[in-house]
Amino acid sequence: MLRKTNDGSLTLYNESFNELYHSEDGALLEARSLYIMGSGFNSLCLEEKTDLNTVIKICDVGLGLGYNALSTLEAWFSGKGLFSLEIHSLEQDKKIFSELTTAKASWQESWDDSWCERVKDFEEITPSFFKKVFEHPISRKKALWFVHLGEAKTLLKENKEKLPHFDFIWQDPFSPKTSPGLWDKEWFSLLTKFSTKNATLMTYSVARSVRDSLAENNWSFKKIPTVTKKKVWLKATKEN
Ligand SMILES: C[S@@+](CC[C@H](N)C(=O)[O-])C[C@H]1O[C@@H](n2cnc3c(N)ncnc32)[C@H](O)[C@@H]1O
Repeated sequence: MLRKTNDGSLTLYNESFNELYHSEDGALLEARSLYIMGSGFNSLCLEEKTDLNTVIKICDVGLGLGYNALSTLEAWFSGKGLFSLEIHSLEQDKKIFSELTTAKASWQESWDDSWCERVKDFEEITPSFFKKVFEHPISRKKALWFVHLGEAKTLLKENKEKLPHFDFIWQDPFSPKTSPGLWDKEWFSLLTKFSTKNATLMTYSVARSVRDSLAENNWSFKKIPTVTKKKVWLKATKEN
């Protein structure tokens, strides 16, 4: 069921999970302000100097309607493209990914053409692994967007050799109440194994159980102010 959020961007209501894919404050607003700006990724994209050999790797937990992944690409394209990028999106719902790649899904009606172009024509490596390559117009560096279809915990457990260590994690499953398996100690322990030193994890939930699970896996965290009705979001940093 389609819903317009308060910033005009469109989201869906998921009847199986009984939950919206995004906060009513704004699907786009949340993607840009919490994940892209709040994490410092946007500032990194705007830096004038960076190690030219750097590849920044991002884990997009719950690709969903694509807002976080596309906001990531948008930030990278807005900068000078001084680093290469890898986005690894994890998603168990094959149907939502198929719809996303049509660029004609109901929630994409309000999207810019550039966003619609970016979701089309993925290369199918296997039936559950897709890839798309982008080139930065200034630096000619590459951004690789990989989509891994399957249950997220299983994907991490079974793809040890194929997945990199992540610099940023967009932790955006449905809520701890409806998707407890993607918020528990085991999940954060798995994510920790796939994280670089000083990795940054962003999420909308500041629930006590989430903070405890992160702390047990040696992440420090702070609550950051939001631009929405919800007062705070969570920014976690992996401790060495
Ligand atoms: C809140 S939505 C994500 C919104 C998305 N990040 C965006 O920017 O549009 C949560 C997504 O997580 C997916 N999901 C839920 N449980 C999952 C699991 N165990 N493994 C993989 N994906 C899961 C759902 O299918 C849904 O698409």
